[in-house]
Amino acid sequence: MGIVTHVPPDVVPSLNPRLARLQPYPFEKLRALFDGVSPDPLYQAINLSIGEPKHPTPALVKEALVAALDGVAVYPATAGLPELREAICGWLMRRYGLRAIDPMSHVLPVNGSREALFSFAQTIINGDSGDALVVCPNPFYQIYEGAALLAGATPVYLNATAESGFKVDYGALDESTWRKVRLVYACSPGNPSGAVMNLSDWKRLFELSDRYGFVIASDECYSELFYGTPPMGGLQAAESLGRSDFRRLVVFSSLSKRSNAPGMRSGFVAGDAALLKSFLLYRTYHGGAMSVSVQKASIAAWNDEAHVVENRALYADKFNAVLPLIAAPLETCMPEGGFYLWIRCPIDDTVFSRDLLRMRNVTVLPGSFLARESGGEKSRQELRPRGIGCAEGAMRRGHAAHHAVFQLSLKRNHARRTENHRSGVG
Ligand SMILES: Cc1ncc(COP(=O)(O)O)c(C=O)c1O
Repeated sequence: MGIVTHVPPDVVPSLNPRLARLQPYPFEKLRALFDGVSPDPLYQAINLSIGEPKHPTPALVKEALVAALDGVAVYPATAGLPELREAICGWLMRRYGLRAIDPMSHVLPVNGSREALFSFAQTIINGDSGDALVVCPNPFYQIYEGAALLAGATPVYLNATAESGFKVDYGALDESTWRKVRLVYACSPGNPSGAVMNLSDWKRLFELSDRYGFVIASDECYSELFYGTPPMGGLQAAESLGRSDFRRLVVFSSLSKRSNAPGMRSGFVAGDAALLKSFLLYRTYHGGAMSVSVQKASIAAWNDEAHVVENRALYADKFNAVLPLIAAPLETCMPEGGFYLWIRCPIDDTVFSRDLLRMRNVTVLPGSFLARESGGEKSRQELRPRGIGCAEGAMRRGHAAHHAVFQLSLKRNHARRTENHRSGVG
C-alpha cells in the first residue's frame, strides 16, 4: 500500500515567521554586488573582505588537538571539563588582573563566540512580551540583529560614528525606550572600527543597566589584537567598579582571532552566575557542548601567551607597513584593536567596492553592509569625492611586500555618484 498524504506536495509548510525578518548576511550581499563584475586579470587577486585570521594555528594547539582525538568517542558535558573552566579563569585572572572568578559558576565553554552571542539572546529575551528591544551598535556584527529577531525582540541601532570616536551613542535613546531594552550588545574592540571602551564608557553602561535592568552581552572576541595598551575587558571594568558579582554582565571571548583557530569553534562566556545557570540550561537542550578533543586543545591555547604576543606583532607589522601608504588619502589610522581598517570611503561605498574589484582585483566590504539606517541625516557621512588610484596602489604594494591580510571595511557613504567622483576613480 502506498503512503497516504493529506497535504498536496506543492504546499510549503508554514515556517517560523521570524525567519523572514532576517537580513541577508553581508557576504551574500557582497556576492550579489559583485555579480557580473570581471576583475582585471592583470592584477593578482587580493581579498580583504572577510574577517578570517590568516596566520597559522600554533603547533601547540594542533598537537594538543591531535593528542586528544580519543575525546571524540565520548559525549561531552555542556558545562565543559573542570580543567578547561580552570584554564579560562586562570587566563582571565592573568589578563585582566581579576581577583576572584569561580570556574564552576562564572564561566562556560561555547563553540565560538558567534553561536553564544546568538543563543544568549534566546535565553534572555521573553519573546512573548512583544515589546522587547535589543540594542546593537551601528555598524555592527550582524549576529546581534539575527539573535534579537529570532528571539522575538526588535533591534535598536545606536550609531558609533567618527564624531564620537566610534563610541556608541547611548544618549540617543529616551527613557521610555530604555525601559523596553532587555539586552545590550557591546563590542570592544569594535568590529569594524576597532574602538575600545574605557572605564568611563563601562561606568555609563553599568549605570544604565542598573537603572533599566537590561543585560549586557559584551563581545570581546578581538580583545587580544591590540597595538598599544591592552583593551579593558567588561569583567575587569565591573570588578574595578566594585561589581565583583558581575551582575547583568556576560562577556564573550574566543580563540578564533587570539589563537588563529577559527575552525576549532572554541570560546567561552563569563560573568553573572545566575544568567550563566539559565544559559547552561538553555544550552543543554540546544546542544551546545564542546567536543572533549577541542576542549583539551583549548586548554593548551588559553595556557600559552607566547603565540598570542607573536600573532599581535605580525598584525602590527602589517599595519605599520600599509598605513603610511594609505592613512592620509583614506583617512584611516591604526585601530586600537582588531584587524580591520575602517576607511573614509571617497565615493558611494558599493560603487567603490565594485570599481576596486573590477579595476584592481581587490575585494573589500562596503561599510553599508555592516550598518542599518538609523538616526536620519545626522548620522549620514557625506564624504568628499577623491581619487582612489594612489591609495589602492599603495595597498597593493603593502600587501605584496608584507603579505598583509586584514579586512578593509568602508564607511557608509550616501553621496550620489557624481561627475566629480567619476573623474576621481577614472
Ligand atoms: C565582532 C565579532 N564577534 C564575534 C565573532 C565570532 O567569532 P567566533 O565565533 O569565531 O568566536 C566575529 C567573527 O568574525 C566578530 O567579528
